Amino acid sequence: MRKEIVFCDNLPYLRVMPSETIDLIYIDPPFNTGKRQRRKHIEVEQDPENGDRTGFNNKRYRTLVVSETGFKDDFNEYQDFLRSRLKHAYRVLKRSGSLFFHIDYREVHYCKVLLDEIFNRSSFMNEIIWAYDYGGRSTKKWPAKHDNILWYAKDPNSYTFNYEEMDRIPYMAPSLVGKKKAARGKTPTDVWWHTIVSPTGKEKVGYATQKPLGILERIVKVHSSPGDTLLDFFAGSGTLGEAAAKNGRGFILVDCNPDAIEIMAERLHEYKPDIYLCADLTGYDKLESMGKVIQISSK
Ligand SMILES: C[S@@+](CC[C@H](N)C(=O)[O-])C[C@H]1O[C@@H](n2cnc3c(N)ncnc32)[C@H](O)[C@@H]1O
Repeated sequence: MRKEIVFCDNLPYLRVMPSETIDLIYIDPPFNTGKRQRRKHIEVEQDPENGDRTGFNNKRYRTLVVSETGFKDDFNEYQDFLRSRLKHAYRVLKRSGSLFFHIDYREVHYCKVLLDEIFNRSSFMNEIIWAYDYGGRSTKKWPAKHDNILWYAKDPNSYTFNYEEMDRIPYMAPSLVGKKKAARGKTPTDVWWHTIVSPTGKEKVGYATQKPLGILERIVKVHSSPGDTLLDFFAGSGTLGEAAAKNGRGFILVDCNPDAIEIMAERLHEYKPDIYLCADLTGYDKLESMGKVIQISSK
């Protein structure tokens, strides 16, 4: 079973991954860099000779600036950034595989349209709302206390869905359903109430964007089987890796931040993962002694 932590930009890594080898992908890409930027509206067209960027299938593209506006924009090329990676996500998934795409409520609508384009609308299965109740409450609008997780099945007619593996949750009015049913609990809907990782709790590993293990374990148990290979190419602190390993699944965790690699290596130490490093990425010197160099150019 593969247990791998990879220090690499995920795009060059995905490019060399063989097709139809992964059973389940969970990703939680970054959004909102918080930087003040000029927004360029661009279009790209294929140009093998004068192209200034490499795109899907290693083809060269030329960037055309259609218009430019200056305002606070947190990820002006976000859709381009995601599109190139999501096309590979689709390619590397097995036919029975699924993608779980975790995103902020301000970005989710754009990402749904993008994913429909890549996976097909018929492959969209659910929008899961992860609802929590933590932190300050706005007095000017409804406090936003949820994240969105979009589920796409590569083949909507045949996909892994282990209904019996669902954890059970308490009924809201147990007295209405009888003792036996109340004791067994009910299956969850597409709204998942779950606390965030407590800043002072045992689960915290010191990575700001760490997601709760409970959410990831639910996805892993229901949407994959023991022995499967799971991929997270925005791995952060490696929550998917822990959920996979605890439940007898293999994992491939890719991240380009050396701090994430160090945290994952420590978090997953007991499962003895192989660690692979791209030597041309900033931060390699910090990790040099931890793993083996792989020949993937991060450019
Ligand atoms: C929101 S965090 C993921 C958190 C993760 N789900 C967890 O539970 O810890 C997103 C991660 O994507 C990584 N990342 C961003 N761009 C990347 C790229 N091009 N290649 C690889 N990793 C990238 C960041 O370093 C960051 O660790």
